[in-house]
Amino acid sequence: MKKKALIFGVTGQDGSLLTRLLLKKNYEVHGVKRRSSSFNTGRIDDIFKKEGNKTFFLHFGDLTDALNIQALIAKIKPNEIYNLGAQSHVKVSFDTPEYTANADAIGTLRILESIRAAGLSKKIKFYQASTSEMFGNSKKSQNENTPFHPESPYGTAKLFSYWITRNYRSAYGMFASNGILFNHEGEYRGETFLTRKVTIGVARIFLRKSKYITLGNLNAKRDWGDAQDYVEGMYKILQHKNSGDFVLATGKTYSVRQFIENAFDCINIKIKWRGKGLNEVGYDSKNTKRVLVKIDKKYFRPNEVNHLLGSYRKAKKILKWEPKITFKKMIKKMVLNDINLQKKSNL
Ligand code: NAP
Ligand code: GDD
Repeated sequence: MKKKALIFGVTGQDGSLLTRLLLKKNYEVHGVKRRSSSFNTGRIDDIFKKEGNKTFFLHFGDLTDALNIQALIAKIKPNEIYNLGAQSHVKVSFDTPEYTANADAIGTLRILESIRAAGLSKKIKFYQASTSEMFGNSKKSQNENTPFHPESPYGTAKLFSYWITRNYRSAYGMFASNGILFNHEGEYRGETFLTRKVTIGVARIFLRKSKYITLGNLNAKRDWGDAQDYVEGMYKILQHKNSGDFVLATGKTYSVRQFIENAFDCINIKIKWRGKGLNEVGYDSKNTKRVLVKIDKKYFRPNEVNHLLGSYRKAKKILKWEPKITFKKMIKKMVLNDINLQKKSNL
């Protein structure tokens, strides 16, 4: 009998990569997609074309709809549920705090309660996509024991989900685990997140389709890894004999500024900086008049998480998980992919 997985957030970056991984491992994969007025399955269309309705099944649903979640879980009775669904953009969570809490916090409770109400507490393993954003501006480096101090509606909603996952584990003996994942990126990353916005911008500048990129805070630091490594970590978390909470990170941190410099390096441009605050610009070191990065205050957040740096010691020791793809290699891969995509695009 094939194992069955149910993925909330199947159309997202991680959902699409995890689907590929689980299909390779011979799972039957069920994914929940939202109804949308335009196509939202671009990341999984190729999989559906190949595997659709044989080993890969899509179901309409939404984390804000308890009846729908109950019905799906009772019908599919999966062995594993991965809750990767979320309004995942930190800046947007300041504009839509109530919706973010509904989907990112109560959505998790709806899944857990549906598992329990269906009498499947001991049969289904549950993975919750927790986040380093829950740490906020805490210590210099963060691990499973670092106190949480979220700085955004997104981080706060995710903290509820982290705790409710732990509650269902202790109260009902459910196999319910949190992966506390630091930022992870790649070719499937949404276009409005920093890394992808920069690699698309660099690709367009290379192809002479744009003159510059407009960004916000250049000084924040992130522990950026590659999403492919991280979905392997999620899978390992659910295969471990005991449930628990695990940080997945690279143990290295870089500023937004350094990310930009490395991305431009891929097209042989060395970026230099001049000016301060909103007037700062990044320019081509070979031509001081060629401004390639500008700042706009609309990209700043009401609260910022200034420094994220994770320790993945527990995951390494217990799960034998380690990130393989380096920061530079990941950026190169993303820039090359975006050059190819931009070559084909009419925009
Ligand atoms: P993503 O690309 O933004 O994908 C989010 C997924 O959730 C999409 O499939 C989206 O559907 C779906 N979704 C949004 N609202 C929903 C709702 N109300 N009901 C059902 N589905 C909904 O995010 P990601 O980067 O893959 O991240 C996966 C998960 O890990 C998220 O929970 C995120 O918060 C968390 N996380 C991500 C990172 C990271 O660096 N990537 C780090 C830590 C934690 P549409 O395609 O229709 O929008
Ligand atoms: N998105 C964006 N756009 N971010 C910018 C920009 C810009 O134009 N300019 C500067 N930044 C800065 C942000 O202020 C932030 O400090 C950093 O770049 C990274 O921003 P994002 O890529 O939007 O990611 P994030 O760190 O806020 O959140 C991501 O990682 C979390 C894990 O730490 C998301 O994937 C979350 O869902 C995830 O939980």
